Amino acid sequence: MSFYVAGTGSALPEKAVTNDDLAQFLDTSDEWIVTRTGIRRRHILTHERLQDLAIASAKTALEDAGVCGAEVDLIVCATMRADTVTPSLACAVAEAIGSTAPAFDVNAACVGVLYCMEIADAFAASGKAKTVLVVSAEAMSKLVDWSDRSTCVLFGDGAGAMVLRAGEGRLAGELSTRPDTHAIRMPNIEGNSPYNQIEQERIVLSMDGGEVYKFAVNAMGHNIEEVCARAGLSPADIDWYLPHQANVRIIDASLKKFKIDKSKVLLNIDECGNMSATSVMVLLDQYAKKGTFHCGDKLLLVAFGGGLTSGAVIIEWKKK
Ligand code: ACO
Repeated sequence: MSFYVAGTGSALPEKAVTNDDLAQFLDTSDEWIVTRTGIRRRHILTHERLQDLAIASAKTALEDAGVCGAEVDLIVCATMRADTVTPSLACAVAEAIGSTAPAFDVNAACVGVLYCMEIADAFAASGKAKTVLVVSAEAMSKLVDWSDRSTCVLFGDGAGAMVLRAGEGRLAGELSTRPDTHAIRMPNIEGNSPYNQIEQERIVLSMDGGEVYKFAVNAMGHNIEEVCARAGLSPADIDWYLPHQANVRIIDASLKKFKIDKSKVLLNIDECGNMSATSVMVLLDQYAKKGTFHCGDKLLLVAFGGGLTSGAVIIEWKKK
């Protein structure tokens, strides 16, 4: 016994920032960003707190599933940066939905949601949880260096959520890590301990774009092959691909060898940019709300990110 997706939700900040907006203060252009990445706009936090978006998406997902907060047995939240180090974002969501279930955050960078789904699978399989609320929320605009054109143009903010209920639906999952602590790096605050002898690194996200690109293409291809094998499926059996939305060229390159019909590959990168852990979650909710998925469809979620982490999950869609 594992889980199926019973409901989804998402929330984006009100402010949308175009490539032309960025070109007002950065040496960049709409043409460069679109051709190198596929990104046209991204949503950026202004007056909202990240937890406002997380709570809004959680409430929408619960309503969509017809579940109340008291029925939730576990809350896991994928994020690299909650509003507070403690309490966790998951605890803020628990308070808002009236839940006393165990609640904690998971940091697996852009693969966070897939890690949360596999945690949910373990809880469901062991009988410890019948209803799991998975939330993702990322404030990438608060991590990047806004004077570094090679990173800040890539990211956006947002939140998403899904309600997973015990039953048949998850077909297979595969998570892995190729440890690399430099390719994508965001230092934490060192604090003011009088004993600390470690020099504070600059607290902005840095990235070796070329290295991450190569890793991403290989990892996504490998994870797709591996998760399909575990599910006893071939890549051609998948109805919908939901890849991490980091760069449309990475998506194309990693899927090329499978000769997949492009209409099966879902995208929102043009409107949202890379929202780290939240990308695949928002993608799932947006296409679910459009009525794209039908009962019995096989969806493959695949992602890579800082760590360097990667993973894939195949689910069968059960909602009508
Ligand atoms: N506008 C204009 N020019 C730019 C910009 C910009 N925004 N950014 C970089 N350039 C310039 C560079 O300075 C370089 O100039 P130079 O040749 O004079 O040195 C030139 O464009 C080419 O740069 P490249 O790095 O070779 O560009 P590339 O085609 O490789 O694209 C990119 C860069 C988009 C970052 C690509 O490498 C990429 O997508 N990598 C993966 C990044 C990724 O997926 N990150 C997410 C990880 S998950 C996470 O962080 C949570």
